[in-house]
Amino acid sequence: MTAHQPSPHHWAKRQYDSQDFENMRNNGICAGLDGLTNVDGNLGKIDKKYAEHLRQLWTVITEAFIQSPAFVDKVYRVGVGNPPYVQYGGHKLTHSDVTNLFNAWRITRYVDDPKHIVEIGGGFGCLAAQLKRFYPKCKFTMVDLEDSLKIQRYYLKESLDNLNDFTFQQDMEGIEQADLVINIRSMMEMTPEQIAYYLEKIQENDVEWFYCVNRYSKHMTKLREYPFDDDWIPYVSQHLPGQDHIHEYLLKRGDGRFTNQLRTLRL
Ligand SMILES: C[S@@+](CC[C@H](N)C(=O)[O-])C[C@H]1O[C@@H](n2cnc3c(N)ncnc32)[C@H](O)[C@@H]1O
Repeated sequence: MTAHQPSPHHWAKRQYDSQDFENMRNNGICAGLDGLTNVDGNLGKIDKKYAEHLRQLWTVITEAFIQSPAFVDKVYRVGVGNPPYVQYGGHKLTHSDVTNLFNAWRITRYVDDPKHIVEIGGGFGCLAAQLKRFYPKCKFTMVDLEDSLKIQRYYLKESLDNLNDFTFQQDMEGIEQADLVINIRSMMEMTPEQIAYYLEKIQENDVEWFYCVNRYSKHMTKLREYPFDDDWIPYVSQHLPGQDHIHEYLLKRGDGRFTNQLRTLRL
């Protein structure tokens, strides 16, 4: 298995036959990539309980963490792909957009004026669009599976003025420098060999920051067993708000004893 083959656990039941990208967030195209679309392509229901969950998540993220309506207005836009949403406080809430808003806020607190961001496994492109609105001059390389890249291209083209600063590719070849590499809920879908491939590429390249947000344990892999080297300094190490099965690491390259810290994560 090579790095850009679908991992055995992911997409197993995915149906990717619709070309109706305008509705990609409610017709199964985004299965496994979007909060409410299950891996089998079926749409989850926004019932009362789910709507309340979204409102609470929004409140925690925007009031306890972000506390800046200007930041939210600058980066948060929901509409492309016609997702089901909950209207609240003047905003359309969807799980993916809300959680990515937290990720965008976290990154922008620490990573100053990046010239090049690499996102591995960017789903339908939501976070990249939010970050591009914050860092208008930054270049982005999106690394993903072929069908996800097709979805990202559509979403980003419709969400931004143009795609001039975007490169789409299926592996890490040719990437020599990046201020920031992002991997959110994506390594946890991969085999140990695929994780090792990506980590080796990240660690041998000139990367300053790595934002790695994955489950403590999924399928056959555990975050504490990812083959990190020692030379990372954790700036953020905690579980995500409202998602205590997912660990948020913001790591900066630098002399350290990171593997000791890694082993303290729960199984
Ligand atoms: C669960 S989605 C997460 C999407 C997004 N990062 C988020 O958090 O909402 C997993 C992502 O990993 C990608 N992926 C799965 N296997 C991959 C591989 N071997 N190489 C690159 N990307 C992969 C999928 O295509 C998808 O974009």
